[in-house]
Amino acid sequence: MMNTAPLKVAVLGCGVVGTEVVRRLHTSGPALAGRIGAPVELVGIAVRDTRRRRDLDVDPGLWTDDPLALVKRGDIDIVVELLGGTEPARALAVAAMEHGAGVVSANKALLAEHGPLLHETAAVHGVDLLYEASVAGAVPLLRPLRDSLGGDRITRIVGIVNGTTNYVLDRMTETGGGFAAALHEAVDHGYAEADPTADVEGLDAAAKAVILASLAFHTRVPPTAVHREGITEVTAVDVADARDLGRVVKLVTVLERAVGQDDVLLRVHPAMVARAHPLADVRGADNAVLVEAADAGPLLFRGAGAGGVPTSSAVLGDLVTAARRRVLGHRGAAPQAAVKQTASVAGPRSRHHLRVPVTDAATALDDVAAVLRSGGVGIGTVHRRRAAGQEALVLLTKDTDDATLRTALEAVAALPCVSAAPRSMRLLDAEEGR
Ligand code: NDP
Ligand code: HSE
Repeated sequence: MMNTAPLKVAVLGCGVVGTEVVRRLHTSGPALAGRIGAPVELVGIAVRDTRRRRDLDVDPGLWTDDPLALVKRGDIDIVVELLGGTEPARALAVAAMEHGAGVVSANKALLAEHGPLLHETAAVHGVDLLYEASVAGAVPLLRPLRDSLGGDRITRIVGIVNGTTNYVLDRMTETGGGFAAALHEAVDHGYAEADPTADVEGLDAAAKAVILASLAFHTRVPPTAVHREGITEVTAVDVADARDLGRVVKLVTVLERAVGQDDVLLRVHPAMVARAHPLADVRGADNAVLVEAADAGPLLFRGAGAGGVPTSSAVLGDLVTAARRRVLGHRGAAPQAAVKQTASVAGPRSRHHLRVPVTDAATALDDVAAVLRSGGVGIGTVHRRRAAGQEALVLLTKDTDDATLRTALEAVAALPCVSAAPRSMRLLDAEEGR
């Protein structure tokens, strides 16, 4: 039977994303009611500081700095969690579900760390738990992975899932400018996490990899098991080398099944991406995720990956879904595929770019190449570079593992012809994007 009583919604957090969600609940009420089949009533907004002036025209009585009391009211249909961080977000989401509310969240840190507990709580209490906005911002990705591809076998995912780092690297590529200024801009645009370390050190992308693995591979991987390298060490010289090689530096997230095994490998790292790869021209804070499925083949999901307005679209989409299900009397948790294994995460093998500063490129090449080859690192191509009176060899290696490369580079650094510490970065080739 249709229930057309207003659905009560509480919003926890009214920052970059929460502000846009509340604005749309206020301005799009009739349209949302039409799609849901019942009006939506905003009954509370929890923030840290209720005295802060906010650019929102809402009833002043809605503000509270006591989110726990709000979620425990017992009459809330849907709690929208937009606080960030794992606590008190975890405790509030659990309390909300225990008191009968469905939960919509954009919080990848929360889902990566406590996804199993939250899904279990949702199932026990027969409520929805939806988090489309937690990966790739506005881009519909989690529902296609869980539902549309539910009958297929996903074999590999490679993507750009952090808008802040893509914005920073894009600015460095376009302007030749530095890391700090570009990051400052990303923070100003509202793309970054409350602590942008999470973005630039790859923690945010690693959390998203965990969520993607749970839906695509039905596998529970702890966030600490994701191989993770951030972008803080990326320099203007790396960016320029990439450009000279017909590549562009991106922070990529790769999920793949280990050959012949059930294990999955999850990794987040900067890579010099070939210009012909579908990820190479992803600009600004956009995200793109290439999903390879056994039957569907390659599928590309792409669009705005961060920012309050685009992210509000994904949050509102989940809100409409959860609300519609309530109206129709479906009080069960959204289906979640069973978690069937714990992954063991091995170190990745990759081709690499190497930059070896040398005293004289013409004479150093033989020595550097010999040391690399004897250390087990195959060499593909070699380029000589000279800038500001400094000479360097730029080499592209064949596939190698991290430990072998590290040992070989230590031997290279000890050569008398090598004038400064060698640098390296992984390569992502065009064939890996087909
Ligand atoms: P903000 O830091 O801009 O906003 C956080 C909000 O939560 C603020 O309103 C803050 O209150 C409130 N808050 C934080 N802690 C508490 C607490 N203990 N009690 C009450 N209120 C609290 O974050 P964003 O809007 O950027 O992000 C929110 C979530 O969405 C995060 O999980 C983030 O990862 C995710 N996300 C963000 C995207 C983006 O582009 N920004 C995109 C996709 C997901 P006050 O205003 O008083 O400080
Ligand atoms: N800080 C995140 C990013 C927000 O830059 O991608 C979107 O999840």
